[in-house]
Amino acid sequence: MKSSHKTEDFKLDLPRRPRRLRRTDSLRRMAQETFVRVEDLIAPLIVKESGEKEPVGSMPGLYRLSIEDLVRECCELAELGVPAVAIFPNMDASLKDALGSEAGNPDTLTLRAVRALKKEVPQLSVITDVALDPYTSHGHDGVLNEDGSYVMNDETVARLCQMALLQAEAGVDIVAPSDMMDGRVGAIRSALDEAGHIDTAIMAYSAKFASAYYGPYREAVGSASAAGTTLLGKETYQMNPANRREAIMDALMDQDEGADFVMVKPAGAYLDIIRELRDAAEVPVAAYQVSGEYAQIHAAAKLGWLDYEKTRDESLLAIKRAGADVILSYFAKEVAAKLNG
Ligand code: PBG
Repeated sequence: MKSSHKTEDFKLDLPRRPRRLRRTDSLRRMAQETFVRVEDLIAPLIVKESGEKEPVGSMPGLYRLSIEDLVRECCELAELGVPAVAIFPNMDASLKDALGSEAGNPDTLTLRAVRALKKEVPQLSVITDVALDPYTSHGHDGVLNEDGSYVMNDETVARLCQMALLQAEAGVDIVAPSDMMDGRVGAIRSALDEAGHIDTAIMAYSAKFASAYYGPYREAVGSASAAGTTLLGKETYQMNPANRREAIMDALMDQDEGADFVMVKPAGAYLDIIRELRDAAEVPVAAYQVSGEYAQIHAAAKLGWLDYEKTRDESLLAIKRAGADVILSYFAKEVAAKLNG
């Protein structure tokens, strides 16, 4: 070793030293490329028929809310500057049947919730799910064939159009088909336009993967059966987690059919899809940080294995950095409160 390689007078001749901009907090702030803003956050909320708010076991901090409590919660979210909520119904088991008939009831829970929200908190955008799973006894997102071995595509799309129309009539700002049937975005767009709902937007769950991360949500809305106890899984309509090209293709089809937003779901394990779709699509890209992503951060923090706030914030920042324009997240409210200082 040459004497100049002694530790004390060792000098690298570097044209760039990236650590210069990491030295102080103010320098790090100036160099920061990505920010999560309150405007980026959409809060998913679960509505139920009546009674006290009910905690969801695997999702600490999330409750099933009566319409009255939902309105209260949404006032707080609007106050914090959160631009939108996505509402999902927890239906009484007595209202479920094989066809999901309750989805066609013009006075069903979701529609009453939308009317109440548009009346009481009109500045907040409301997004409703278009899918049959909260209403079907088997928990599938559509109508099954005779022997229960397949979810019928076109028959289901007809039902989804009917649902989307009812939601538009109730005053919802954005309908969000989460079913993954082929051709449903175009069909819903035509149905809405024909009825004069030209300004009702569509947020398409475009790259929705058949994911294990949905488990806690199925407990929250009570649609667990399709996840495990029936022979038919959701992988005959949701995407194979192994597929990247197919995800981009399916999302671009939704864009061509008239989707105003395309969505990737789940988010954290699919950051490559978010990035690639951001580069390929023209419309805003939404990412859904799903129930299991929320639950795993809570669980690890509870065990003392991860720092709750830091992991939460990093998970959202990573989704934003990957290219998401908006993020549906069960952390929305607490993060908005933190960002408001
Ligand atoms: C189904 C639907 C699912 C979620 C929202 N809508 C899951 C499923 O396919 O069973 C999951 C949301 C979450 O996990 O947070 N229409």
